[in-house]
Amino acid sequence: MKRHAKRDYPLMDIRRHLETGPIVLVSSAWRGKTNIMTMGWHMMLQFTPALFGGYIWTGNHSYEMIRQSRQCVINVPTVDLIDTIVAIGNSSGSEIDKFKEFDLSAGQAERVKAPLIDECYASFECELADDTLVPDKGLFIWQVVKAHVAPSPKNPKTVHYRGDGEFMVAGPSLSRRGSFKPEML
Ligand SMILES: Cc1cc2nc3c(=O)[nH]c(=O)nc-3n(C[C@H](O)[C@H](O)[C@H](O)COP(=O)(O)O)c2cc1C
Repeated sequence: MKRHAKRDYPLMDIRRHLETGPIVLVSSAWRGKTNIMTMGWHMMLQFTPALFGGYIWTGNHSYEMIRQSRQCVINVPTVDLIDTIVAIGNSSGSEIDKFKEFDLSAGQAERVKAPLIDECYASFECELADDTLVPDKGLFIWQVVKAHVAPSPKNPKTVHYRGDGEFMVAGPSLSRRGSFKPEML
């Protein structure tokens, strides 16, 4: 097996290797207004109940909307939306209506007031499950209470942020299902 000759690496840049979950678009609703933000820093935390954690910077308009409403929808876009993903991340809901500006359709959620984004192939309705790390670390822990996923595409071409304006696109799938023990993930 190949061994890698590793070199000292700047801590500031470790994100380029670790931050590879799919970019998500977080939609919210508060006091009659809706908003969307782009999010790369997030992780699954638990199966049952389904817990999902995400970091929101206090300077984002979404921060107060989601902190106050205690709800959001995590939407997963595919590569065809790349320019919209970047534009949403480069603008503030305090200045524009992002659904209108980026020509996105707000779908009705079942369990929360935040809208689904119909142009995304998956949307997960979330309620805030734990806000203890919000003030200090901006880490919101949500429980997914309702999931909507389109049956196709089977292997969605999600985009994964590598920092410095570069994205990876999800590639071919590999299966090792036969080698997995039942209790493994
Ligand atoms: C690729 C990408 C990933 C981002 N990831 C995050 C993130 O994980 N957390 C965060 O707070 N902001 C993140 N941002 C920045 C927000 O999306 C950005 O500040 C956005 O304008 C916030 O919108 P709002 O002010 O309407 O809430 C990211 C932006 C981009 C382009």
